[in-house]
Amino acid sequence: MRTRMGLVVAAALVTASCGTEAPAGPPFRTDTGVGMLMANMVDPAADLLWDAVGTVIDETGETHWQPETEEEWLQVRLGAMTIAETANLLMMDGRALDQGQWIEMSEAMADAAMVAFAAAEAEDADLIFDLGETVYNTCNACHGLYWVDDADRGRAVAPGD
Ligand code: HEC
Repeated sequence: MRTRMGLVVAAALVTASCGTEAPAGPPFRTDTGVGMLMANMVDPAADLLWDAVGTVIDETGETHWQPETEEEWLQVRLGAMTIAETANLLMMDGRALDQGQWIEMSEAMADAAMVAFAAAEAEDADLIFDLGETVYNTCNACHGLYWVDDADRGRAVAPGD
């Protein structure tokens, strides 16, 4: 009964605040900036994907590596899933640099990462290798527009600029 009363009061408060301002959403924290997310989350996650499969040819011959154990495949899935979910973090108010291309490019990164995630689930090492480039291209596309060079880091460039 107590809970019920609480809910009624809460509902009344929400109704009362309607019309004056939009109801507040969850208390998301966005004080960790885009650069911090890139350096500490997106980039290490991408390395899990990019370093998972490879071949080196040198004087000792050809060395090929790819995930073999379930734990190693989990690292690839972790990388792909982290990249995909970081796209949501990048699209949040307080981080998104605009509501147009920034959103599109974040979504493109998420889409590419989820295709890689599916390949990791299927444990298809060749496909993971190929998809690494697809993911890389989505990073690069956004950096080309919004991370022009060190002096201009984070500068939003208008379309056609
Ligand atoms: C939606 C746009 C966007 C996408 C997609 C994106 N980045 Fe970034 N990235 C940025 C911006 C903007 C900066 C500059 C941030 C700053 O320093 O303020 C940046 C900076 C970086 C940095 C430098 C961080 C630092 O300051 O040390 C790294 C590393 C990086 N990104 C890696 C990646 C990788 C890897 C991907 C793809 C898996 C990726 N980014 C995808 C926008 C993006």
